[in-house]
Amino acid sequence: MFQPFRLGGLELANRVIVSPMDMYSARDGVPGDFHLVHLGSKALGGAGLVMTEMVCVSPSGRITPGCTGMYNAEQEESWRRIVSFVHGQSGAKIGIQLGHSGRKGSTRLMWEGMDDPLPEGNWEVCGPSPLPYKAGGQVPRSLDEAELCTIRDQFVAAAEAAVRAGFDLLELHCAHGYLLSSFLSPLTNRRTDRYGGSLAARLRYPLEVFDAVRAVWPQDRPMTVRVSATDWCEGGVGVEEAVEIARAFAEHGAAGIDVSTGQVVSEEQPAFGRSYQTPFADRIRNEIGRKYGVAVIAVGAISSYDDVNSLLLAGRADLCALGRTHLYDPQWTLHAAAEQGYAGQGATWPMPFAAGNRRPQGGRTDGPRPRLELIRAGVPGTAHARWRPGAADGPGAGGGR
Ligand SMILES: Cc1cc2nc3c(=O)[nH]c(=O)nc-3n(C[C@H](O)[C@H](O)[C@H](O)COP(=O)(O)O)c2cc1C
Repeated sequence: MFQPFRLGGLELANRVIVSPMDMYSARDGVPGDFHLVHLGSKALGGAGLVMTEMVCVSPSGRITPGCTGMYNAEQEESWRRIVSFVHGQSGAKIGIQLGHSGRKGSTRLMWEGMDDPLPEGNWEVCGPSPLPYKAGGQVPRSLDEAELCTIRDQFVAAAEAAVRAGFDLLELHCAHGYLLSSFLSPLTNRRTDRYGGSLAARLRYPLEVFDAVRAVWPQDRPMTVRVSATDWCEGGVGVEEAVEIARAFAEHGAAGIDVSTGQVVSEEQPAFGRSYQTPFADRIRNEIGRKYGVAVIAVGAISSYDDVNSLLLAGRADLCALGRTHLYDPQWTLHAAAEQGYAGQGATWPMPFAAGNRRPQGGRTDGPRPRLELIRAGVPGTAHARWRPGAADGPGAGGGR
């Protein structure tokens, strides 16, 4: 996990990614201090790449009123501040995930009722076909070709702003039932025009958006695509189609495929378990990734460093994204290094944190034992000594630090 990785033109210090996680904490789409601290602390925590949450390309493309956007100058400026912090204070790279909520928009903050319509102030939602995400949800308006062009141009404008803000990588969110994902799935796309029907037709709009964004995103900065590799539902996208979807994006110049699953239809029946999405990443890596030189990112209930190491060594993925684990422990990568006794370039402690670079003694098990008389008696190695960079690690020196 501490081997460097080259993702297109981008050099990552290790194989760990902070998975995109919506914080539902923006005001008018503007990321604030909360996002600076959230993403900043994850960057200080040692992951090679930190991803933003899904950043929305328009006000009506937001999932909730708390989602961030990249459609005005104030948002761009706030993102620039976050990117500058990450670049200035850590060795991490930072990627932006761009998306449009589609038929899953205009809903409540996660902790107020995920995917439930707002109690008031709803905006109109849109999609490939007039099918609501769930019973009681808004019926989306079916987009016509002019509107598809408008939304494509919003993705392009957001990508241009992301270039100016200094992001290292751009991920197109084509998963989880949001707008681009809902074009891919036959369960949500029932169109009879050139954007619906065969897989090639369902891919047409997401690929048009990808191509338009790729054209303005600098060639030396990679683009990845997040896909739902199965809808976990009869008649939906399955792994065979997912391989073809990955192939299409690879042929259009994606540097990486980020392999998630589901959340496309509310009647899905997912099979959860440890590393449960990895078989899909494995299949895509070994059928598409190696052939096209495209990196494959595994994600989903990967939580221990043993899982990450085994999965990488077995050739099932090139990179691992961890989401909730990073909410539990923003310094997960640094802690994984400490616990494995790793001290190389793949996990660098920020200098102000270097004094903490070893796992603290566990209560009642490790020495020195919590008995004050040891210190009073001046037993060697228990006296308090201030830690200094480069100072020799004498026996028991840890006890007084
Ligand atoms: C609070 C929260 C917000 C999330 N928001 C996003 C998001 O904005 N975009 C996205 O692609 N996935 C999102 N996800 C999914 C995660 O990126 C990840 O795929 C999922 O949590 C599984 O990984 P994990 O088991 O390591 O958490 C979110 C997950 C959580 C827990």
